[in-house]
Amino acid sequence: MYNSTLSDIKEILKLESSPALCLQQICTSIHKQLPAYDWVGFYFMNHQNRKLYLGPYEGDPTDHTIIDFGKGICGQVAVSGDTYMAEDVNAESNYIACSLNVKSEIVVPMYQGEKLIGQIDIDSHQLKRFKEEDEAFLKAVNTLIVEQYPDLPRYIESLF
Ligand code: SME
Repeated sequence: MYNSTLSDIKEILKLESSPALCLQQICTSIHKQLPAYDWVGFYFMNHQNRKLYLGPYEGDPTDHTIIDFGKGICGQVAVSGDTYMAEDVNAESNYIACSLNVKSEIVVPMYQGEKLIGQIDIDSHQLKRFKEEDEAFLKAVNTLIVEQYPDLPRYIESLF
């Protein structure tokens, strides 16, 4: 499942199109293929004002389109640069709820070389949904995207 989804993502990236379109198709593909990946989206970093900006996503619309560094799971990953797996979001002291249905969450940072530029965020309606294999899969997704789009920062700036 992870491998077949990665193959699909490679195909999506091969087709020449804009980062916005590709990222949207990647969210849709992951959301459709991975069980209990109920919300799939990208946040990108604005290092100047220390805020995350929502990019393409698949799932219910969220009010949290801009998140301060340090706030919630996403904001914590913006500061730490490390993956965060919340097995039970209700047990988290620094968490921003998007929907009462969400039970667990994983956020995996996206690096361009040494620079932290964004993250992929997945919400699940299932408790303890995410394991190391999910982290490995999502890291691979982020790497494929960064390799395909060396000028991703230009797209990211268009979100601010
Ligand atoms: N739950 C996240 C906020 C983003 S939504 O999940 C889409 C957080 O705590 O940072």
